[in-house]
Amino acid sequence: MKNKKKQMKKNLKKNLEKNPKIEEQNKKRSGNKKESLEIKKLAEKDDKGNKFQTFTDKVKFSKSPIENSNTLNKKSNPNNKNKYVNKIIFKNKNKITNKTLINEDKQVIDKYELEVDDVNVIVKIELSEIGKTYNLLLPQVGFGTSALLEQLRKELISTTTIGAVEIAELKLINKIKKEFSQKASELLSEKVPDISQDSKKFLTGMLLQDMLGLGQIEFLIADPYLEELVIANSKEPVRVYHKKYGWLQTNVMIKREEDILNYSNIIARRVGRQVNILSPLLDAHMVTGDRANAVLYPISTKGNTITIRKFSRDPWTIVDLIINNTVSIDIVTLLWLAVEFEMNILISGGTASGKTVFLNSLMPFIPPNQRVISIEDTRELMLPEFLYWCPLATRTANPEGKGEVSMLDLLVNSLRMRPDRIVLGEMRRQKEAEVLFEAMHTGHSVYATVHADTASETISRLTHPPLSVPPSMLKIVNLNVVMFRDRRKGSRRVFQVAEFIAGNDKVSPNILFRFSPERDKIIGHNESLVFLEELGRHTAMSRFEIEKDMQYKKSILQWLIKNKLRSFEQLGRVMNLYYTNPDELSRIIKKNDVSKIL
Ligand SMILES: Nc1ncnc2c1ncn2[C@@H]1O[C@H](COP(=O)(O)OP(=O)(O)OP(=O)(O)O)[C@@H](O)[C@H]1O
Ligand SMILES: [Mg+2]
Repeated sequence: MKNKKKQMKKNLKKNLEKNPKIEEQNKKRSGNKKESLEIKKLAEKDDKGNKFQTFTDKVKFSKSPIENSNTLNKKSNPNNKNKYVNKIIFKNKNKITNKTLINEDKQVIDKYELEVDDVNVIVKIELSEIGKTYNLLLPQVGFGTSALLEQLRKELISTTTIGAVEIAELKLINKIKKEFSQKASELLSEKVPDISQDSKKFLTGMLLQDMLGLGQIEFLIADPYLEELVIANSKEPVRVYHKKYGWLQTNVMIKREEDILNYSNIIARRVGRQVNILSPLLDAHMVTGDRANAVLYPISTKGNTITIRKFSRDPWTIVDLIINNTVSIDIVTLLWLAVEFEMNILISGGTASGKTVFLNSLMPFIPPNQRVISIEDTRELMLPEFLYWCPLATRTANPEGKGEVSMLDLLVNSLRMRPDRIVLGEMRRQKEAEVLFEAMHTGHSVYATVHADTASETISRLTHPPLSVPPSMLKIVNLNVVMFRDRRKGSRRVFQVAEFIAGNDKVSPNILFRFSPERDKIIGHNESLVFLEELGRHTAMSRFEIEKDMQYKKSILQWLIKNKLRSFEQLGRVMNLYYTNPDELSRIIKKNDVSKIL
């Protein structure tokens, strides 16, 4: 027995020496005392009762000071405490605890730490011969620990019913996770009585992700900088779309096709669907808000594929968009006024020009106590909590061609739900356009996106097939915001803000603001001919009153920008106060009492 123990120790040592990641960490350790590799020995018995040695190798990562403040912009700083983040992501902590720009190592462009279910990992963005890559550094688990985990996994499967549960609610998942953690923790204490609290947490976290989640993919899902992840097949590494670095190849590989199939099944089961050889396509909206799409082999000819488009945990807000020059404060003031007084707004733009982001950023301007119904193919919109919001999403038909719920179905149905405001993801077909314009004409306030590059093109798109809206109906659109993506710089800008001057058979745009590419600035263009007049009619406000109101709104926006009150929640709080307790908001602004909003 002693010999066996010795041999295992030797093997482990060899393993550690051979492992380049461990080597690198060991090297760093000698240079940086704060970074330490803690290897804990745990005595354990295997299935047959033979005693063997297991090791928990827990890497403690450096908490070194941030040497160079990272350039990731404020908006996407996941340190911002966001209620939505905590709500949507795992119930446990899920945060970036340290973010460092490594200067001494030219290969590493960026580095940050994530903590998911008590497991810490490091993400390194590196520059290699294949371009920028995304490297997930997991704490190393020795072979002994792996054996222990495997054994626990088997025991947990037999003692819990989790595998068979259909988990459709985030609350339920969190409850199950809690129960599972408790069970795993008890089992660990039983097996390894002298286990430290830290090791126990870590091992439980690893088990949790393996058994209830998608293994290493969970870390990628938890990384707030990632927007999209693609598992192409078992032979290619997982690729991710990073907010700052674009598409990156990762060092994560799902080694077996069965595992990808298994992940697809986990996702499908949680939304009450199936994915198998007979129905090899899955489009599922996960409880976290993320959208998963799976295509199985041989339909996806290179192997089973999963694409996950992540739901933004920290959405862009209007303050972010003013700060990053997407829009000017004057335009926002005008749009705020339009949203407050129930005017109709269309957002146009090309693919990925930022239409949905912009539409979403206007939502907090909706006054409370108004029933808002949103209709989308994919749930992307996120409204502040104070709003009375009912989000609807379409559904595709099942393999037998049944169960489809189309955008038109939802649109028609929404009108029976007594909405005050209707938000439509994208207007694509004639019937949808018909119902939407009908809704505007019957006094609902509508916000929708259209695929068009300019205000003139928006008019042309609307009045020609397939939308074919009669020109005279376009009067009802109060403002058209056109978004633009600079493909060279990757930036998004408001390209035009226009009102429509509609005759009986001809509509022309009156451009109120336009983007000047030479100055990278949005400038005023024409005076309003119809919008302000219409607004006056709706609100009985004189031009002077409108001007005064706009000045006040502008001062609030300036105060928000000055105090960096940018998060979705903070904005929600300010807007709620603006509508429900304006005196209190005035007082807060006058006294600069930012703490009331934080
Ligand atoms: N103003 C902005 N500044 C920087 N990035 C932005 C901005 N608006 C959008 N983005 C980024 O661009 C991506 C696409 O944005 P969005 O989904 O709003 O575009 P879209 O026009 O609605 O696209 P689609 O044509 O697919 O509907 C998002 O992932 C977002 O992070
Ligand atoms: Mg969109």
